[in-house]
Amino acid sequence: MTEKRQRMFVHTYGCQMNVHDSETIAGVLSELGYEPAERPEDADVVVLNTCSVRDKPHRKVFSRLGELRRLKERRPEMLIVVSGCMAQIVSDEIKKRAPFVDLIVGPREYAALAEAVRARQDGGEEGPSRPAELLDLHRIVPEGLPERRDAGVGAWVTAVYGCSNFCAYCVVPYARGPERSRLPEDIVDEVRRLADAGFIEVTLLGQNVNAYGADMDLDIDFADLLALVNDVAGIERIRFTTSHPKDCSEKLLRAVADLENVCEHLHLPLQSGDDEVLGRMNRRYTLGEYLRLIDRAREVISGVAITTDMIVGFPGETPEQFEHTLQAMERIRFDQAFMFKYNDRPGVAAANMSDKVPEPEKQRRLERLVGLQNEMGRAKNRALAGQCVEVLVEGPDKRRTGRMQGRTRANKLVVFPCRTSLKGSLVDVTITGGYVWGLTGEPADGAAAP
Ligand code: SAH
Ligand code: SF4
Ligand code: F3S
Repeated sequence: MTEKRQRMFVHTYGCQMNVHDSETIAGVLSELGYEPAERPEDADVVVLNTCSVRDKPHRKVFSRLGELRRLKERRPEMLIVVSGCMAQIVSDEIKKRAPFVDLIVGPREYAALAEAVRARQDGGEEGPSRPAELLDLHRIVPEGLPERRDAGVGAWVTAVYGCSNFCAYCVVPYARGPERSRLPEDIVDEVRRLADAGFIEVTLLGQNVNAYGADMDLDIDFADLLALVNDVAGIERIRFTTSHPKDCSEKLLRAVADLENVCEHLHLPLQSGDDEVLGRMNRRYTLGEYLRLIDRAREVISGVAITTDMIVGFPGETPEQFEHTLQAMERIRFDQAFMFKYNDRPGVAAANMSDKVPEPEKQRRLERLVGLQNEMGRAKNRALAGQCVEVLVEGPDKRRTGRMQGRTRANKLVVFPCRTSLKGSLVDVTITGGYVWGLTGEPADGAAAP
């Protein structure tokens, strides 16, 4: 008799960090014999790897859990796991609202996930029905966990776990613990293995990645780490995210300018253009300092793209303070911005602040900011028309056949006509059009055109 193969379905919410954690979760489950399923209906274990940063992903998880409850009623042996940041932050709410969840596992507890799943597998009838428990966050730097990455062009590599900044609105430090840098040799070894496996690009990850090294006794900072990774043969592009403006040194700007494989892109969340709001957000820079940093980055790094995150309607943000944000955006002209309405999150300092901005007003502010950014982003992209840029091809354009898509070194999306699959190659493309979402182009040598 052939044994039925066990299947897993991992669904990810949230940031790149979480996407990368899902690769570890899938790796751990693969080692236990699980293979990927196309749909949760076909899976023996379903993992929701959750995000708690804003209300929307949070609500989506609870509605997904509602669907899973019906599946579980039909197939009680199915294991349901909630992992990630919500597991750490709102485990009680999960237990209360979704008592059928078998396991709740905080970020970086994925070694324990293996043991817990194995125990449930061995537990027969009783296993899955035991109440969910929270396996607590260990303050360690995990190494050597298996990872299951889809073969591709780019790979994520963690440089720093956690965050110690405690911005007043943010749950991340509570969900992921304090900053812990990985040893440089572990990072470089991983990048070498990725190069051997055929990856061309790596993105170094950390909630505050440019604080790399500050928590260790080694004499190394993020610019030094970039130099080490730059030397790994086979990796053509190095990216990193997210940089905190307060930790963005002149040395780092120089490293981005000078190291040939490090891409000319900085993601530098500004959050607000008003100093009083920035102070209450605990961001630890002023608008003036931020502007000087941007000017310097543009002087030092030719062709640099600068992207940002912004929050509108932080508690107590007055209409005038919001105008300061609009003015700052106009002055800086970001290549791209991720813009959010402030949300109360459990346990964060801002949740206790008075003068919450009413929802309709937050919505109006968001629309104005998005309108302004769209205009500027489109103009910036249009201005690139006629330039020849190097595109790392990621795969076919998802919307139209006969076209491929990829990214420039400045991380702009480019789609261009192409008759063969050039996935994984570097192609010179002449830009023909600029839009809010990115660029269109033609392969420069004409060879790949239809
Ligand atoms: N470590 C990164 C990203 C953190 S989360 C950083 O420091 O920027 C990504 C973005 O979500 C943040 O930059 C912020 O703009 C937004 N965000 C975080 N908490 C939020 C909240 N409570 N309400 C609205 N937006 C929030
Ligand atoms: Fe959150 Fe601030 Fe840390 Fe970013 S730097 S993860 S916004 S606390
Ligand atoms: Fe969300 Fe956690 Fe990332 S809260 S944004 S998944 S660090």
